[in-house]
Parts: sequence; C-alpha cells; structure tokens
Amino acid sequence: MNYTLWTDLRLAPRADPEHVIEDACLVEQAGRIVWMGPRHALPPQWQQAKHVHKLDNRWVTPGLIDCHTHLVYGGTRAQEFALRLAGASYEEIARQGGGIVSTVQATRCLSEEQLLAQSLRRLDALLDEGVTAIEIKSGYGLDLDSERKMLRVARRLGELRPVTVRTTFLGAHALPPEFAGQTDAYVDQVCSQMMPTLAQEGLIDAVDVFCERIAFDLRQSEHVLKAAQALKLPVKMHAEQLSNLGGTAMATRYRALSTDHLEYLDEAGVLAMKEAGTVAVLLPGAYYFLRETQLPPIELLRKHGVPMALSTDSNPGTSPCTSLLLMLNMGSTLFRLTVPEALAAVTHHAAQALGAPDIRGELSIGSRADFVAWDIESLSELVYWLGLPRCALVVYQGAISRD
Ligand code: NIG
Ligand code: FE
Repeated sequence: MNYTLWTDLRLAPRADPEHVIEDACLVEQAGRIVWMGPRHALPPQWQQAKHVHKLDNRWVTPGLIDCHTHLVYGGTRAQEFALRLAGASYEEIARQGGGIVSTVQATRCLSEEQLLAQSLRRLDALLDEGVTAIEIKSGYGLDLDSERKMLRVARRLGELRPVTVRTTFLGAHALPPEFAGQTDAYVDQVCSQMMPTLAQEGLIDAVDVFCERIAFDLRQSEHVLKAAQALKLPVKMHAEQLSNLGGTAMATRYRALSTDHLEYLDEAGVLAMKEAGTVAVLLPGAYYFLRETQLPPIELLRKHGVPMALSTDSNPGTSPCTSLLLMLNMGSTLFRLTVPEALAAVTHHAAQALGAPDIRGELSIGSRADFVAWDIESLSELVYWLGLPRCALVVYQGAISRD
C-alpha cells in the first residue's frame, strides 16, 4: 500500500521544546502516522517511498486545536464595541437587550448559505495558521430551527474545509426575547425539545451552558447538564466568567470535558476539576476585549495539575478573534503561561477539552497525520510573535492542505 515519507523535520511530537527529535522522518499511510523517529533509525521497509517530501529542517508540530469557538454567527457587534468604549459595560448592554440577543437577531434572519459564507471567512483565517480541529458552538439561534441552521453550518464547514469540526449545542446561551420573564420555561424547551431533536439528527457532539448571573443560574444549568447526560452527550460549561456561581464544581459532577473562562474560579473549583479530569479552557481574547482585570487562578490550576487549554472563543461580542497564535501570545503575556504550557494548551490539552476520540493533539505512531511545518528558528516563536509566523505547510489526514 502507498505511503508517504516526510524527511528533514525538527519534530516536536507534543509541541514541547524539551522533547524534540532532530533530523526526523515521519511515514504516513492512509492518513495516519505509521512510523516516526530519527532518520538513522528509519526501518528499511519505509525507505523506498514513491512519495517523499523534504521539509528543509523545519519545525513540525501537531496541528493546532481551537477548542472553544462561537464561529458561526451573523453580523458583527462593532456598534456595541463603540458603546463599550464610550463607557457602557458588557453586562449593562446585555441587560438592555443588546449583547448576545442582538447577534441572535442577526443570525436568525440569515439563510443557511449566507451564514455559511460569513463563517467560512473566519474559519479560513484560523486554518491559515495551522488549525486542524475546531469546536463550534450554537447559541445564537435559540429556537429549534435557528439552532439547527447553525449546527448544520458548522457540520458543512467541516465538509468544505480540511478540518475536524466538533459541534456543541449551546441552546442555553441567553434567554431569547420571546421567553422574556420565563427562563425556566425556556430551559425546559432547550432540554425537552431542542436538545433531543438535534441530537437525534446527529448535529450535537457536546452540550454547553452559560452559567452566569446574566444567563442561567446553577439550578437551570444543572437541568441542562442532566438532559445532556440522559442523552449520553459530554458536557462543558461557560463558568465563572463574570462572577463565581459555583458552576465549575457542579459541572465536574457531570464529568465535564472542560469548564471555560474561569476568571472568578476559586480553589474548591480547581480541586473539583482536578478530581474529575476537567480541562480549564482559558480565553485571553475575551479577558482582553472586555478589559477584565480579574485573572483566572493560573497558579492554583498549575499547583493542582489541572490541564490548561487556550482558545480564541471566536465570537462577535467578547472576542472577535480569528487568530489562535495571537491567543498563545496573550495567554503568556496576560495569564503568564510559560512557552511549554501555552503550546500544550493549543495541542494535547485542547484535544482533551475537545473530547473527540480520534484527536490527540500529539504526533505518535497510530495518530492522525495532522501536522504543521513552521518557518521559525525555535518553538518559542509561536508564542512570541504578534502576527508572524505563518506556517509553511499544513498537512491534514496525510494530505497537504495549505502551503
Ligand atoms: O464566550 N459568555 C458567553 N458567551 C460568549 C460571548 C457571547 C457574546 O457576547 O456574543 C463568550 O464570551
Ligand atoms: Fe464562549
């Protein structure tokens, strides 16, 4: 059977500067890595390849993983940004019916094709930087048909582009205007109608809820997680972003893949995450864009060995961001992650938060051949630059997808 030999790599199988294979080769067959190691150890059976690619001693890392995005939405919130610059807060705008709900209106009125076209631009920007797997949430539809439209667009993005898309149902993102004053009734609708229907249609890989004082309280959030559990869907949570409601500790009782944001997380929550194996997804773009000053408890997460991931949170309200590399830099400058921590945060820790069985965020024998070759002198440059570097080559399931 055909195979491809990649030579002249500086291979960082876990994007870890301390574990590098110099002058490495990698053999790919049927989209998977069947051998990798130093050139001198290449077994004879792989030496006669018909297809050989020389990578000129470039650094090679796993494909990057953006494990928390709201990439599919209509319109922008540039107007709201201007209001915030003039003094209004994110919470005030949300309470006055702006914020998420304004994106809901802009998303509902688009056709599936229009929504796809708007979202593709953002996806392409991420893919240009070496992203090979992404999570995409719903949550700007907030009725059955509009949530379905969003999730279908997310699936189609994964068919149109060389990237693995994991969909997350975030029906409990905000209260839609037609349910004003009836939050419990809306949560019931999410749990008993929208979630089972969309799960049945194969559109949901995981379920998320925005547990916050401007969104859903602990009891309502738990209702959502219970409904997901009944459908055997893994859960995540937007938790402790603006205040500490104890959402993280609750989510860990449902073995949450991740809890995300976490600026107001306390040590009890950190310990619960450690115990449950829940990943801390840190979102420096939202922290920066909201001019938040409360830092997530990085030192506690580190001390207790909770895996930390970084993601764009790409969304129109709190993080209109289409650069995961920029998040690497901001995760380090704002949150003080070290270079190895930042790189793990967009590879194997992000994979853990994604929860896709076949995505490991590392290169090893048997893993998918999703990797990136970079024009850099050292791996630190991936964290260092604000703008560079561009990747030299992206390989997705063994095929060159960008060069
Ligand atoms: O991750 N926190 C809730 N959801 C998004 C923001 C959504 C919006 O403002 O449109 C977030 O920050
Ligand atoms: Fe988010």
